[in-house]
Amino acid sequence: MKDLISLHDLTAEEVQNLLKLGLKLKSELKAGIPHPILKGKTLGMIFTKSSTRTRVSFEVGMTQLGGYPLFLSSNDIQLGRGETIHDTAKVLERYLDGIMIRTYAHSDVIELAEEANIPVINALTDLLHPCQVLADLMTTYEHKGKLEGLKFAYIGDGNNMAHSIMYGCAKAGLDCAIATPADYQCDAEVVENAKADFKAAGRNLILTEDPVEAIKNADVVYTDTWVSMGMEAEKAERQKIFMPYQVNKELFSKAADDAVFMHCLPAYRGFEVTEDVIDGPQSVIFDEAENRLHAQKAVMATLMG
Ligand code: CP
Ligand code: NVA
Repeated sequence: MKDLISLHDLTAEEVQNLLKLGLKLKSELKAGIPHPILKGKTLGMIFTKSSTRTRVSFEVGMTQLGGYPLFLSSNDIQLGRGETIHDTAKVLERYLDGIMIRTYAHSDVIELAEEANIPVINALTDLLHPCQVLADLMTTYEHKGKLEGLKFAYIGDGNNMAHSIMYGCAKAGLDCAIATPADYQCDAEVVENAKADFKAAGRNLILTEDPVEAIKNADVVYTDTWVSMGMEAEKAERQKIFMPYQVNKELFSKAADDAVFMHCLPAYRGFEVTEDVIDGPQSVIFDEAENRLHAQKAVMATLMG
């Protein structure tokens, strides 16, 4: 395992090991036990999109591991002015011990990982968001005491979150149901890969246009913004089309009685989720946000340690 680009590339055991290490690092941190696993190492963090959680959790996580996080806004580095990914990779590998990147085209992250002989971590592309799903699986485990056999329902846009959730659920042994409007289904290639992963795991994947079918008896209910970064021009249209997919009290009541509600954040109350659900007693959104820190420390320690 050189990079973390997609959970599809990992074995079930590798995913499990990352989750276990994340939980261990979390309990060490809470107990005040230092773990300077990356002392003297530097992580470059390239952002061509906005971020609150990802930036802060990677910076703080790297610091807690004894290393140094270097924030590289694409506005300020030559990549943003047309320097090639190849040259950027070849230069950065001379200085850094790892690169974290958040950008638009998934192919750019694959190219960067191929060109750089240091670990590359995908911190969100238009296609995938694997770090978020590691934190979500960790949170699910903390609240449910297990992962194997649970039902995870995602309602909304067939986007980067939906894709990584499918991959993550298959690797961790959960059943998964995804409900999207007909014209906003998941990427066909990701679905094919995910189907193979679910088959190998002996678990079920349901893809439907019916949010009620997806949410029925779910242990975890997940949604995400209807307007991902880069789609701002489609906002008004999307808000109309997606309204039947809003996770509100009525829809949420069809999940298991003890279901938890999750959202990667940032959330838009009154659109993909209503206040009574996201701010209600079954919401675990801030545990998820916290677990970004612990899960990503496990990723960095594993790849760069
Ligand atoms: N969930 C998530 O990735 O948040 P940010 O966009 O704030 O990093
Ligand atoms: N789907 C969202 C996730 C944000 C963390 C986006 O890509 O903007």
